[in-house]
Amino acid sequence: MSLMDKVVAAVTPPESEEQRAEARAKARAAAMEGDWLSLVLDHHQQIEAAFVAVKSATDAASRGDAQEHLALLLTGHSIAEEAVIYPALVKTGEEGHSTKAYTEQSAAKVQMGLLEDLDPMSQDYLDKLEHIRGAVAHHVYEEEGNWFVDLKQKLAPADQTKLTFRYQQEFSRYTRGSEEDEFEVPSAASRMHDPLTGAKAKN
Ligand SMILES: [Fe+2]
Repeated sequence: MSLMDKVVAAVTPPESEEQRAEARAKARAAAMEGDWLSLVLDHHQQIEAAFVAVKSATDAASRGDAQEHLALLLTGHSIAEEAVIYPALVKTGEEGHSTKAYTEQSAAKVQMGLLEDLDPMSQDYLDKLEHIRGAVAHHVYEEEGNWFVDLKQKLAPADQTKLTFRYQQEFSRYTRGSEEDEFEVPSAASRMHDPLTGAKAKN
Protein backbone atom coordinates (compact mmCIF):
# COMPACT_ATOMS: atom_id res chain seq x y z
CA MET A 1 0.00 0.00 0.00
CA SER A 2 1.46 3.33 -1.02
CA LEU A 3 1.64 6.31 1.31
CA MET A 4 -1.16 7.93 -0.68
CA ASP A 5 -3.35 4.85 -0.26
CA LYS A 6 -2.64 4.79 3.46
CA VAL A 7 -3.69 8.41 3.82
CA VAL A 8 -7.02 7.66 2.17
CA ALA A 9 -7.39 4.21 3.74
CA ALA A 10 -7.67 5.80 7.18
CA VAL A 11 -11.25 6.53 6.31
CA THR A 12 -13.19 6.67 9.48
CA PRO A 13 -12.89 10.28 10.53
CA PRO A 14 -11.87 10.38 14.20
CA GLU A 15 -14.12 13.36 14.84
CA SER A 16 -17.88 13.12 15.36
CA GLU A 17 -20.64 14.75 13.32
CA GLU A 18 -21.21 17.14 16.23
CA GLN A 19 -17.56 18.18 16.27
CA ARG A 20 -17.69 18.79 12.53
CA ALA A 21 -20.83 20.90 12.86
CA GLU A 22 -19.26 22.87 15.69
CA ALA A 23 -16.09 23.51 13.66
CA ARG A 24 -18.15 24.70 10.71
CA ALA A 25 -20.22 27.04 12.85
CA LYS A 26 -17.04 28.59 14.26
CA ALA A 27 -15.51 28.95 10.81
CA ARG A 28 -18.73 30.57 9.51
CA ALA A 29 -18.63 32.99 12.43
CA ALA A 30 -15.03 33.91 11.56
CA ALA A 31 -15.85 34.45 7.87
CA MET A 32 -17.13 37.68 6.36
CA GLU A 33 -19.65 37.78 3.51
CA GLY A 34 -17.87 37.17 0.22
CA ASP A 35 -14.40 36.66 1.67
CA TRP A 36 -12.08 33.74 0.86
CA LEU A 37 -13.20 31.79 3.93
CA SER A 38 -16.89 32.10 3.07
CA LEU A 39 -16.16 30.94 -0.52
CA VAL A 40 -14.18 27.96 0.81
CA LEU A 41 -17.00 27.01 3.19
CA ASP A 42 -19.58 27.28 0.39
CA HIS A 43 -17.46 24.95 -1.73
CA HIS A 44 -17.05 22.47 1.12
CA GLN A 45 -20.84 22.27 1.45
CA GLN A 46 -21.27 21.85 -2.30
CA ILE A 47 -18.71 19.03 -2.28
CA GLU A 48 -20.56 17.25 0.52
CA ALA A 49 -23.82 17.49 -1.43
CA ALA A 50 -22.04 16.19 -4.56
CA PHE A 51 -20.83 13.08 -2.68
CA VAL A 52 -24.42 12.39 -1.60
CA ALA A 53 -25.64 12.80 -5.19
CA VAL A 54 -23.11 10.23 -6.49
CA LYS A 55 -24.03 7.70 -3.83
CA SER A 56 -27.77 8.08 -4.31
CA ALA A 57 -27.70 7.83 -8.14
CA THR A 58 -29.68 4.77 -9.23
CA ASP A 59 -28.17 4.00 -12.65
CA ALA A 60 -24.75 4.08 -14.27
CA ALA A 61 -25.42 7.11 -16.48
CA SER A 62 -26.68 9.37 -13.72
CA ARG A 63 -23.94 8.18 -11.37
CA GLY A 64 -21.37 9.03 -14.06
CA ASP A 65 -22.82 12.53 -14.41
CA ALA A 66 -22.84 13.02 -10.64
CA GLN A 67 -19.23 11.77 -10.40
CA GLU A 68 -18.17 14.24 -13.08
CA HIS A 69 -19.82 17.06 -11.13
CA LEU A 70 -18.11 15.96 -7.91
CA ALA A 71 -14.70 15.73 -9.63
CA LEU A 72 -15.11 19.19 -11.15
CA LEU A 73 -15.91 20.74 -7.78
CA LEU A 74 -13.23 18.83 -5.87
CA THR A 75 -10.48 19.60 -8.37
CA GLY A 76 -11.44 23.25 -8.87
CA HIS A 77 -11.63 23.81 -5.14
CA SER A 78 -8.39 21.96 -4.35
CA ILE A 79 -6.43 23.74 -7.08
CA ALA A 80 -7.56 27.10 -5.71
CA GLU A 81 -6.56 26.10 -2.18
CA GLU A 82 -3.21 24.71 -3.33
CA ALA A 83 -2.36 27.79 -5.39
CA VAL A 84 -3.56 30.39 -2.92
CA ILE A 85 -4.56 29.27 0.58
CA TYR A 86 -1.84 26.75 1.45
CA PRO A 87 0.98 29.14 0.50
CA ALA A 88 -0.64 31.59 2.95
CA LEU A 89 -0.39 28.89 5.65
CA VAL A 90 3.37 28.76 4.97
CA LYS A 91 3.54 32.55 5.06
CA THR A 92 2.04 32.53 8.55
CA GLY A 93 4.49 29.88 9.82
CA GLU A 94 2.25 26.83 9.44
CA GLU A 95 4.42 24.70 7.15
CA GLY A 96 3.23 21.51 8.89
CA HIS A 97 -0.43 22.22 8.19
CA SER A 98 0.39 23.17 4.63
CA THR A 99 2.35 19.95 3.93
CA LYS A 100 -0.42 17.81 5.41
CA ALA A 101 -3.05 19.65 3.38
CA TYR A 102 -1.18 19.15 0.07
CA THR A 103 -0.59 15.45 0.85
CA GLU A 104 -4.23 14.80 1.71
CA GLN A 105 -5.54 16.54 -1.40
CA SER A 106 -3.07 14.69 -3.65
CA ALA A 107 -4.27 11.41 -2.16
CA ALA A 108 -7.87 12.33 -2.90
CA LYS A 109 -6.93 13.13 -6.52
CA VAL A 110 -5.26 9.72 -6.89
CA GLN A 111 -8.33 7.93 -5.54
CA MET A 112 -10.76 9.98 -7.65
CA GLY A 113 -8.70 8.97 -10.70
CA LEU A 114 -8.86 5.29 -9.74
CA LEU A 115 -12.61 5.58 -9.11
CA GLU A 116 -13.08 6.34 -12.80
CA ASP A 117 -11.93 2.81 -13.70
CA LEU A 118 -14.44 1.00 -11.49
CA ASP A 119 -17.87 -0.24 -12.52
CA PRO A 120 -20.07 2.59 -11.21
CA MET A 121 -22.74 0.22 -9.94
CA SER A 122 -20.34 -2.16 -8.15
CA GLN A 123 -19.70 -2.53 -4.42
CA ASP A 124 -15.99 -1.76 -5.03
CA TYR A 125 -17.03 1.59 -6.43
CA LEU A 126 -19.23 2.41 -3.43
CA ASP A 127 -16.47 1.33 -1.04
CA LYS A 128 -13.89 3.57 -2.70
CA LEU A 129 -16.37 6.44 -2.89
CA GLU A 130 -16.99 6.10 0.85
CA HIS A 131 -13.24 6.01 1.54
CA ILE A 132 -12.73 9.22 -0.41
CA ARG A 133 -15.74 10.87 1.24
CA GLY A 134 -14.43 10.01 4.70
CA ALA A 135 -10.93 11.28 3.90
CA VAL A 136 -12.28 14.51 2.43
CA ALA A 137 -14.59 15.00 5.45
CA HIS A 138 -11.61 14.70 7.79
CA HIS A 139 -9.53 17.08 5.67
CA VAL A 140 -12.37 19.60 5.67
CA TYR A 141 -12.64 19.28 9.45
CA GLU A 142 -8.93 20.05 9.82
CA GLU A 143 -9.28 23.13 7.62
CA GLU A 144 -12.42 24.42 9.31
CA GLY A 145 -11.48 23.30 12.82
CA ASN A 146 -8.40 25.43 13.15
CA TRP A 147 -6.09 25.81 10.13
CA PHE A 148 -8.24 28.34 8.29
CA VAL A 149 -9.67 30.09 11.34
CA ASP A 150 -6.08 30.68 12.52
CA LEU A 151 -5.16 31.95 9.08
CA LYS A 152 -8.12 34.32 9.13
CA GLN A 153 -6.88 35.76 12.43
CA LYS A 154 -3.20 35.96 11.52
CA LEU A 155 -3.28 37.49 8.05
CA ALA A 156 -3.22 41.24 7.53
CA PRO A 157 -6.34 42.78 5.91
CA ALA A 158 -4.54 43.49 2.62
CA ASP A 159 -3.45 39.85 2.41
CA GLN A 160 -7.02 38.74 3.12
CA THR A 161 -8.27 40.83 0.21
CA LYS A 162 -5.67 39.35 -2.10
CA LEU A 163 -6.53 35.83 -0.96
CA THR A 164 -10.21 36.34 -1.75
CA PHE A 165 -9.43 37.63 -5.24
CA ARG A 166 -6.92 34.92 -6.04
CA TYR A 167 -9.00 32.04 -4.63
CA GLN A 168 -11.95 33.07 -6.75
CA GLN A 169 -9.73 33.56 -9.80
CA GLU A 170 -8.17 30.09 -9.57
CA PHE A 171 -11.52 28.37 -9.00
CA SER A 172 -13.02 30.20 -11.98
CA ARG A 173 -10.09 29.29 -14.23
CA TYR A 174 -10.75 25.60 -13.65
CA THR A 175 -14.54 25.63 -13.77
CA ARG A 176 -15.08 28.26 -16.50
CA GLY A 177 -17.37 26.98 -19.24
CA SER A 178 -18.91 24.37 -16.95
CA GLU A 179 -22.12 24.53 -14.97
CA GLU A 180 -19.95 25.71 -12.06
CA ASP A 181 -19.32 28.82 -14.13
CA GLU A 182 -22.77 29.81 -12.92
CA PHE A 183 -21.45 29.60 -9.37
CA GLU A 184 -22.98 32.44 -7.49
CA VAL A 185 -20.18 34.73 -6.46
CA PRO A 186 -21.02 36.83 -3.44
CA SER A 187 -21.23 40.47 -4.40
CA ALA A 188 -18.21 41.59 -2.39
CA ALA A 189 -15.98 39.13 -4.24
CA SER A 190 -17.46 39.80 -7.68
CA ARG A 191 -16.85 43.53 -7.34
CA MET A 192 -13.28 42.97 -6.33
CA HIS A 193 -10.29 44.10 -8.34
CA ASP A 194 -6.90 42.49 -8.47
CA PRO A 195 -4.91 44.28 -5.77
CA LEU A 196 -1.77 44.05 -7.93
CA THR A 197 -2.97 44.88 -11.44
CA GLY A 198 -6.33 46.58 -10.79
CA ALA A 199 -8.05 44.13 -13.16
CA LYS A 200 -11.59 43.11 -12.27
CA ALA A 201 -12.09 39.53 -11.08
CA LYS A 202 -13.45 37.33 -13.85
CA ASN A 203 -16.13 34.84 -13.01
FE1 LIG B 1 -10.97 22.77 1.39
